[in-house]
Amino acid sequence: MKPSSETKSQAESLREQIRHHNYQYHALDDPEIPDAAYDRLMRELLALEEKYPDLVTPDSPTQRVGDAPVSSFETVQHELPMLSLGNAFSPEELNEFHSRVLDRLEMDAGSTLQYAAEPKLDGAAVSLLYEDGVLVRGATRGDGTNGEDITHNVRTIESIPLRLMGSGYPRRLEVRGEVFMPKAGFDAYNENAREAGTKAFVNPRNAAAGSLRQLDPKLTAERPLDMYAYSVGISDGANLPDHHSEILNRFQEWGIKVCPERRVVDGVNGCLEFYEDIGSRRDALPYEIDGVVYKVDSLRLQEELGFVSRAPRWAVAHKFPAQEEMTEVAAVEFQVGRTGAVTPVARLKPVFVGGVTVSNATLHNIDELHRKDVRVGDTVIVRRAGDVIPEVASVITGRRPKGTRRVQLPTACPVCGSRVAREEGETVARCTGGLFCAAQRAEALKHFVSRRALDIEGFGAKLIEQLVLSDRLQTPANIFQLTMEELSALDRMGEKSASNLIDSIEASKTTTLTRFLFALGIREVGESTAASLASHFGKLKSVVAASDEELQAVPDVGPVVAARIRSFFDEQHNIDVISTLRELGVSWPESEPLAPSDDGPLSGKTFVITGTLPSMTRDEAKERIQLAGGKVTGSVSGKTDYLLAGEKAGSKLTKAEKLGVEVLDEAALLSLI
Ligand code: IVH
Repeated sequence: MKPSSETKSQAESLREQIRHHNYQYHALDDPEIPDAAYDRLMRELLALEEKYPDLVTPDSPTQRVGDAPVSSFETVQHELPMLSLGNAFSPEELNEFHSRVLDRLEMDAGSTLQYAAEPKLDGAAVSLLYEDGVLVRGATRGDGTNGEDITHNVRTIESIPLRLMGSGYPRRLEVRGEVFMPKAGFDAYNENAREAGTKAFVNPRNAAAGSLRQLDPKLTAERPLDMYAYSVGISDGANLPDHHSEILNRFQEWGIKVCPERRVVDGVNGCLEFYEDIGSRRDALPYEIDGVVYKVDSLRLQEELGFVSRAPRWAVAHKFPAQEEMTEVAAVEFQVGRTGAVTPVARLKPVFVGGVTVSNATLHNIDELHRKDVRVGDTVIVRRAGDVIPEVASVITGRRPKGTRRVQLPTACPVCGSRVAREEGETVARCTGGLFCAAQRAEALKHFVSRRALDIEGFGAKLIEQLVLSDRLQTPANIFQLTMEELSALDRMGEKSASNLIDSIEASKTTTLTRFLFALGIREVGESTAASLASHFGKLKSVVAASDEELQAVPDVGPVVAARIRSFFDEQHNIDVISTLRELGVSWPESEPLAPSDDGPLSGKTFVITGTLPSMTRDEAKERIQLAGGKVTGSVSGKTDYLLAGEKAGSKLTKAEKLGVEVLDEAALLSLI
């Protein structure tokens, strides 16, 4: 059936609206309508196009993922070569760059020159060709002269417009920029891959480059990719502004996304200020960058400066210290933590990466170690991004020496010789030695004295290790039996520091129940659970005596945590240590338990909680309900008396309405109580 002219204009109007909202969302980061409303427009257009296939145009917003897979990539010859950039690694090198620029332009050393400063995005370069405003071709950079045709893939990236907005764009316009995978998408993708046992990405750059080189555009469409434009290639048939920064502004008006973190700055000082500013915010940016780029802003001056071999004389990349370096694995050792977790660690030939010298890198767990197959003698890529612990990102297997062997999980603990066990379905292997294991003991003691636990100032890790090795410290109780004489006799311990330490040990005896419970180092009992237990039970005696069920009545205590707490206190050894601690003077104020009342205003009533409440967390609400005698369960059923619903309540609210369960907001609950 041929569409009527009315239908045609209806389709065109839908496309216009969708393009407009795409522009607001992607180019301006300022959406005007909720996602659901956008989806409705899209569905409406899809329905029309399905009914009248004649209506479909290649630049319709519905046509992003429709392309058939290609069997290989066609070569694209770049009409203007895609250049790379020279690097500067220090302010001195930047100064040299700036002097060369001024020299060439025959400007005085002190002259001001404006640079357009932008982040250097860590992704893959692309060229997008628009003819009469319609995207006709996407290509990789390749070797700068010849790239690959990836039109079918770039069309799937939602922030790349299939048709330009507004007017005044050149008849032929080549936009160049970086396709990248935002950090959040990268992390989510890798987490899924790990769970599914499929291959994870080494870094966001490989993720972007790999995603663009898919033969099947459906695969690319599944990858969370984004793009920022950073320069112009071909432009025929209209004049562009005469400054780089203004061209990028113009791009944005045409719906092409540009990085919001760009600025025009004066001279080297302006550049350095920009570098510092971006560097300090680097970890918080939603995408990975490896430096900043400065470009002489005036196109007239750019032209005067010209190129050397493959790089422009008018631009330079000021790099951050590398976050990935190559080094060799000297050994793989297994460390034992507080809970007995046996963690593989690579001992490395020291290498400078991410601004520090790294000689150890975590291998996370035995599965990760096997997945990467890291072996002693291997050449590896070490990665240290931001504040995260250095890790082995990958092995360069081509450089593997002969005769290496796969690393195996030890069957016995490297510290105490106890059996190493791995529970069904767990990634972590653990030493079964418990507090018999010196490593676990040392870690448990470090935790016990740490700032948020008993807070014994001056009781450092080295001292603990020394005292554990000499068997002077077997349980936390031994800390309170240490004497001035034996402490001052230790290596590197003067009389003064020994006496200070004795004072802080003494001071730590007066503590709180929360700190004490946390200090015990019960698995799964962090600071906030310790605080909930303390306020719920009030007295240590009641925590020790609590049944599984009673424990689960505490906010954030579920069956797993309750079981850990129970098994800790079922261990006579632990009870003995606690009583010795108390005999030695460790004490805290105890209070009355917040016992649920049988005759409270809510007794006999069953509640379900959903959504975000205005003034309390769901755990706090649970506790309030229980104190008033009510019960809280997880799902809505015929037995539910009330649903306490906050903002963004979802399926539970729908179900409650269907079953006719009374729905309360926070204020209504408080007035009931
Ligand atoms: S300008 C002639 N600007 O870095 C100018 N490049 O080493 C050529 N890159 O292949 C590039 N962010 O993929 C420019 N803001 C930015 C950039 C950027 C990342 C990449 C680009 C290029 C490589 C140059």
